[in-house]
Amino acid sequence: MEVVITPHGAVVNEIVAGIVARVLQSRAAPVLGLATGNSPLGVYRQLIERYQRGELSAAHASAVLLDEYVGLSPDHPETYRAFIRREFVDHIDLPISRLFTPDVDAGDLSAACRDYDQLIGEMGGVDVQLLGIGRDGHLGFNEPGSSLASRTRLKTLTRATRDDNARYFDDRHERVPRHVVTQGLGTILEARHLVLIASGPAKASPIARAVEGPVSAMCPASVLQLHPHVTVVVDDEAASQLRLVDYYREAYDNKPSWQDM
Ligand code: F6R
Repeated sequence: MEVVITPHGAVVNEIVAGIVARVLQSRAAPVLGLATGNSPLGVYRQLIERYQRGELSAAHASAVLLDEYVGLSPDHPETYRAFIRREFVDHIDLPISRLFTPDVDAGDLSAACRDYDQLIGEMGGVDVQLLGIGRDGHLGFNEPGSSLASRTRLKTLTRATRDDNARYFDDRHERVPRHVVTQGLGTILEARHLVLIASGPAKASPIARAVEGPVSAMCPASVLQLHPHVTVVVDDEAASQLRLVDYYREAYDNKPSWQDM
């Protein structure tokens, strides 16, 4: 696991946008794994700017979303499909027919979840998966207690997560859907490169538990320790509870030029 610590969020965005841009440039049919929430927003803005300057194209790419609320009407502005279109996909040249999200309105939700995993497999898997982390250590919407081998499925959000997401629902936590479909931790682990983004003091504890704590279903993001290619990009505040902070800085500052992210 590579941990990159930067002075502030703008540098985090620059580094992660660079990782995504390289995938878009180097692969014939790249598959991007997209997260919603606040953490990747700056990365999406960076990528949109690069597209507008003619520096990148996603015309040959596909994208799959990590998770989706269950129970919102399809035209609700806070579905994650609407969010990712508004914040990213509608501003670049990724074909909208190549944006895939879990079918939360399917009559047979379990079958739709299996189909989603199958679809990702048929696309050749995710090349780079962007991830945020919840304050309870959730990854996607795999809340504490999630199986480390889980597949895409229905999950119930914790009260803490619904409180955190109330900001998208007029600060009314009771309006936040109780259920979601999320890629499982086992599904997420199949992506070729996992990139976890975190900024600010509220992420310090979950980042420390995910990166340096025991691998445990109590901190679902700790499952990243089992993946061979993970990059954690954090600002100073989110890194503030890491014990090996000096080592991470030294390793990154002395990274051989031939070694990719
Ligand atoms: C979003 C997702 C969640 C968020 C997490 C952090 O698709 O899967 O795991 O990444 O809740 O949210 P923010 O970035 O808003 O702090």
